[in-house]
Amino acid sequence: MKALLTGLLEWTDARFPLTKMWNEHLAKYYAPKNFNFWYFFGSLAILALVMQILTGIWLAMHYKPSAEHAFASVEYIMREVPWGWTIRYMHSTGSSFFFVIVYLHMFRGLMYGSYKHPRELIWILGMMIFLALMAEAFFGYLLPWGQMSFWGAQVIVSLFGAVPWVGETLALWMRGDYVVSDATLNRFYSFHIVAVPLVLLGLVAAHIMALHEVGSNNPDGIEIKKNKNAEGVPQDGIPFHPYYTVKDIAGMMVFLFLFALVMFFAPDFFGWFLERANFTPADPLKTPEHIVPLWYFTPYYAILRAIPDKLTGVLAMGVAVLIFFFLPWLDRHPVKSIRYRSTLYRLALAVFAVGFVTLGYLGTQPPTPGMSELGLRLGELYFLWFLTLWVYSKDRSAKYYGRLVVVLLVLMLIGDWRRFDPSQGALMAVSALLPVGYFLVFYLLPVFRPGLNASKPVPERVT
Ligand code: HEM
Repeated sequence: MKALLTGLLEWTDARFPLTKMWNEHLAKYYAPKNFNFWYFFGSLAILALVMQILTGIWLAMHYKPSAEHAFASVEYIMREVPWGWTIRYMHSTGSSFFFVIVYLHMFRGLMYGSYKHPRELIWILGMMIFLALMAEAFFGYLLPWGQMSFWGAQVIVSLFGAVPWVGETLALWMRGDYVVSDATLNRFYSFHIVAVPLVLLGLVAAHIMALHEVGSNNPDGIEIKKNKNAEGVPQDGIPFHPYYTVKDIAGMMVFLFLFALVMFFAPDFFGWFLERANFTPADPLKTPEHIVPLWYFTPYYAILRAIPDKLTGVLAMGVAVLIFFFLPWLDRHPVKSIRYRSTLYRLALAVFAVGFVTLGYLGTQPPTPGMSELGLRLGELYFLWFLTLWVYSKDRSAKYYGRLVVVLLVLMLIGDWRRFDPSQGALMAVSALLPVGYFLVFYLLPVFRPGLNASKPVPERVT
C-alpha cells in the first residue's frame, strides 16, 4: 500500500508541484514561534469561508430566487427539507461568526502593526476581502425576501441616489427597477452565489500568497527572517506543519463548539443574527418601524445616520471604511507591536475599539436626539484615531501639538456652528467634552508628560 502511494506521489510530482507546494506553504514554511491567541483568526476565517460556501451550495438546491417564491422556499427549507434547518442556520449564524472572526483578525493587525512594511499588500488584499465580504452579506440578506431584506436593500440602494447628478440613474441601474423587485432579487442572487464568492476565493488565495512571500508578523513585531542559522532557517521560526496545523485545529474545535452552541440554542441570537422583522414576508406597502442592518454594518450605519445631510453622511460612511486602506501610510512609526508602543498609543487604540463597538450598538437603536449626538461625537473620535496614528508616527514638538489642538478646536466649532440647533444646545455642549477630552489627553498630555508617549526598546529576538 505504502509503495503504491509513494509511486502515485512520484507520478504526480513529475507532473504537478504537489510536494513542492506542501513544503513551501506548510512543512518548510517557517512561522514565528510566538504566535498567540490572536493568530487563530486567519485559519478560522478560512474555515468560515469554506463553511459558507458549502452550506450555500446546499441552500441553493432548494431556494427559489423569485419575489413570489423566495420567502416560501426558505420556509420550505426550514420545515420540510431533511436537515434543511441545520444548513440554513449554519449559513445565517455562519455569516455573523465570519464577521466576528474578520473583525478580530483585523484588530490583531492593528495591535501588532501587521499592515506595516513589508506587509502593506497583505493588508490591502485583506481590505479588498473585507469590502467583498460586505457586498456578499448585503446581497445575501435580500434573498429570504423578508421585511428587513426588502427595506434594508431599499434604504442602502437609495443611498447611492445621494451621489450628485448620476445618483438616481445609478440606483435605478442597481435595482433594475424603480423599486426593489423581482429583478433586483435575481441580480443580487447571481452576485451572491457566483460573482462575489469567486472574487473572494481569488482574493483569499492572493492574500495568503502575499503572506507567504514576506512571512508572518508576530506579537513582538520582529522580522524573524533577520535572524537565520547556518542552514538559512529563521532561528525564531518553527515549521508551520505540524506545529501550527495542530494549534489551528485545536482553535477550530473550540470555535465549532461555540458555533454549535449558538446555532442550536440561539440561532437568531436574540435578534442580532436574524432580525425578528425578517420572519415576516416582504411587504412593499408597509415600512417596518425601525430599518436597521445587521450588527456588522451598524458602526458605519451609525456614522451615516449621525450626519443630517444625506450626501455628507454617505461620504463619511464611505471614508470610514476606505480609510483603512491607507493605514500602512498613515502610521509610519518604526515600532510595529503594541507591546513596545507608548502608553498613550495603547490608550488611543482602546478608545478606538470601545468607540467602534459603541457605534455598532448605537446603530441598532432608534435614532433619538441623544443617540444621534453621541453617534456624531463617536464618529469624530473614530476619525481622530487615524489622525493620531499619523501624529504619533514620530516625535512632535510642543509647538506642533499646540497648533494641532487649535486647528482641531476651530474645525470642531465650525462644524458645531453649522449644525447648531438651539433646542439641542445643552446636549451639544456636553457631548463636545468627548472630542475636547480626546485633544487634551492625546495631543496635550504628551507635551507635559513626554514619557507617556515614549515607546519601549524592541528586543532583538522574539520573546
Ligand atoms: C476571508 C477573509 C480572510 C481570510 C480567509 C484571511 C486569511 C488569513 C490567513 C490564513 C492569515 C495567516 C494566519 C494569521 O496570521 O492569522 C492571514 C494573515 C493576515 N491577514 Fe487575513 N484573512 C482574511 C481577511 C483579512 C482582512 C479583512 C484583513 C485586513 C483588512 C486581513 C489582514 C491580514 C494581515 C495583515 C495578515 C498578516 C498578519 C500577521 O502576519 O501578523 N485579512 N489572513
